[in-house]
Amino acid sequence: MEDDQPSTTMQPADSAGGQSVVVRQMTIDDISAIYHLGEKLFTARIAPNAHRTWDEYEVVGFFQTDCEFCFVAEDEKKMVIGFALGTVIEKHHSWTYGYLIWLGVRPDYQKSGIAQRLFRQLKPAMIDAGARIIMVDTDAENAASLRFFRKMGFNHSRQHVYLTLNVDEDRRRMEGRRKDRIIRYTVGDHEGDRGEHG
Ligand SMILES: CC(C)(COP(=O)(O)OP(=O)(O)OC[C@H]1O[C@@H](n2cnc3c(N)ncnc32)[C@H](O)[C@@H]1OP(=O)(O)O)[C@@H](O)C(=O)NCCC(=O)NCCS
Repeated sequence: MEDDQPSTTMQPADSAGGQSVVVRQMTIDDISAIYHLGEKLFTARIAPNAHRTWDEYEVVGFFQTDCEFCFVAEDEKKMVIGFALGTVIEKHHSWTYGYLIWLGVRPDYQKSGIAQRLFRQLKPAMIDAGARIIMVDTDAENAASLRFFRKMGFNHSRQHVYLTLNVDEDRRRMEGRRKDRIIRYTVGDHEGDRGEHG
């Protein structure tokens, strides 16, 4: 098997749960399948931050800008059963970093080596692009993902705290002020018209 070769073409099939699985670079036709699979996987419970930021534009964006770091796994029926979407960040006067941002495998195919195969295609593609370090982040409660990344050799984990600020009240106040301004402007405008012509 040629798992450690950069994959811009089809790779040999591998078996998961008795099925032949192919890992290949993402194409335009995969966008919708990746998006819908992500919707099922990045739930508010398992991955609250991912849940908030995952949308169809995210997938389209990766396809447009980082296609060479985006891979899908498909089963014998050509159904997308997993994906890995990454990017490479080139810093001037510094190292180049690979960043694996989205990784997901259909629940009924999990724990059969699919994510491992996806990562084994992504890693050499990033190295080829100059990456010296590959980064990932995941929710601290996401045990499967943490276990997976550790198995792939990721270490030096650092805690990162996400905070949220609810600005809904501010938004309502701002909208109220905006409406108020429109009404004043309309009334003033009308009076001005009367003064000039009436
Ligand atoms: C994390 C995820 C991508 C792993 O995919 P997968 O295809 O099931 O992973 P693999 O079968 O390649 O697992 C490789 C290793 O990872 C670890 N691992 C994977 N899933 C695990 C789980 N549910 N519990 C414990 N360890 C797990 C194991 O060490 C496993 O090796 P082993 O089977 O020899 O024990 C998958 O669980 C998933 O899609 N989760 C939801 C989305 C998500 O959280 N994505 C990551 C953040 S973007």
